[in-house]
Parts: sequence; structure tokens; C-alpha cells
Amino acid sequence: MTFNAPDVEEFKSCYPGKLATLRHDLIGHPLFEITRLTQLAGALPSQSVEYNAGDLPVSQDPAKTPMNGLSAEETVRRIAENNSWMVLKNIEQDAEYNEILNACLGEIEPTVRPATGVMYKREGFVFVSSPGAVTPFHMDPEHNILMQLRGTKTFRAYPDSADAIITDEQHEAFYGDRGHRNLPYREEFEKYAQAFEMTPGDALYVPVKTPHWVRVGDDVSISLSITWRSNASDREARLRLGNAWLRAKGLHPPAPGASPLRDGVVVFARRVTERLAR
Ligand SMILES: [Fe+2]
Repeated sequence: MTFNAPDVEEFKSCYPGKLATLRHDLIGHPLFEITRLTQLAGALPSQSVEYNAGDLPVSQDPAKTPMNGLSAEETVRRIAENNSWMVLKNIEQDAEYNEILNACLGEIEPTVRPATGVMYKREGFVFVSSPGAVTPFHMDPEHNILMQLRGTKTFRAYPDSADAIITDEQHEAFYGDRGHRNLPYREEFEKYAQAFEMTPGDALYVPVKTPHWVRVGDDVSISLSITWRSNASDREARLRLGNAWLRAKGLHPPAPGASPLRDGVVVFARRVTERLAR
């Protein structure tokens, strides 16, 4: 077992809507050593490797994110000194990483399925970061368990802040063609903050679209994100896209949840539109 069994029980009581901490035993696994990750960075297609300078402000304009001037492989190899932030995306493209991703997800699947149905779009991401690197304030569209493997990071999440931090228009834009994961950050959001000091062996379940930002500690950090989509994450995406369409037509859709019946109609209509488009 990768995850500590009592933690998985605890996770069950939190899933899908609440943050949950777990412990894992992947520390020191050879797939997450710098030499193997350098090889992975060279083997993945270029669109699966994202990296940039690591000394960013929490509120970073995505259009102005500075590059670090190095190749992907050089960025991993010299991560201790090049002040960078990097993510290797969809590591399941490599058979060895695919195996470990599915082994981890398989352990929590019996907990997840009764709550949100089939786990699909199973994707893995490895984050390799220089000391002090910052991942700016953002949200992600999938269910995620972040597993710390080397170094430390502070993960600052803003749960239960829904309407106060992100407007309905921002939620809708997030799923649209021009949406970006980064969000504008303001000091007043701090009243919703919950900080997790992650050390090797720690894992954190992050619900769909929980706003967060991350700062790496004094050493190189390596983390693995195991992610999946579900009926719940699909429903949220369809509702937001449907509402965006209505808003573009000059209507004013109510906030999700205000009228569950109406939300259901929008989700259904969106589903039909997607089917016709196929
Ligand atoms: Fe994230």
C-alpha cells in the first residue's frame, strides 16, 4: 500500500468537497530521482513540459510569466541552482509512471467510486522546483492528491471562499477557450486561508477548483500530483459552460445551487450540445 490505510478512511469522510491530509510511502522511489526525471523531461513531447522562472509573485499575470532560458532537461538537471519552476505533465505517457499512477489511484478508487462514480481521465503531474519557487494563485479543474517526495513546500489553500474570491464570470472563463488557471490575488482573501506545511511523505487531497498557491522551502522540491475527473467535476464544467453561453446571450444566470432544477436543465442542455457537436 502506498497510502496509510487509516488516512484513506479519513479521506473518505472528506471526499469530494473537503481538503484531506494523508501519508504515503513513495519517498526515495527511483522514478522521482533527478536523473530519471531528467530523462523523462527529454522524452515527453514539448507540450507536456511547462517551466519558467521560479521567483514569481503570488499574483502573476499569466501572459507575462518569465522564462528561465534553459532547455527542459537542463532545467531539471540543475534545478538546485537555476531558480525555476517546472511541471512534467501527463507522465502516464511513460509506461513506468503510468503503472505507479494507476497503483496509487487504484488504492483510493473504492473510496471515490461510491461518492462520484467512475474515476477517469487519470493523469499524473510531477512538479520539480528550485528552493523558494512560487506557484502563483490559481485553481485546477480536477480532483487532485498532491504527494510530497523531496524537500518541503507550503501549500496555501482558500476553501469555502467560493463567491468571495472567484466571480461566476471567472468560473465560466476558466472553462472557456481563453481561460487560464491563474487568478487575481488580493490580501483580503487571507481570512479564508488554510496553510499546509508539506514534508516528504505528506499528501494532500485538493477538491476541484479550490484556489491555492504554493511556495517551496529552502531545498529542491519534487512532488507528484495524481488526478482524476468524475461525474461531479464534469457537472461543474457543463454548468459553468452552459451559464457562460446564456450570459453571452445577454441573460443573467443565477449562481449555481440557487436553483438545482434549473442547474440540472442547463447541464442536460450542455450534454446534448456536446453530443450533437460530436
Ligand atoms: Fe494547482
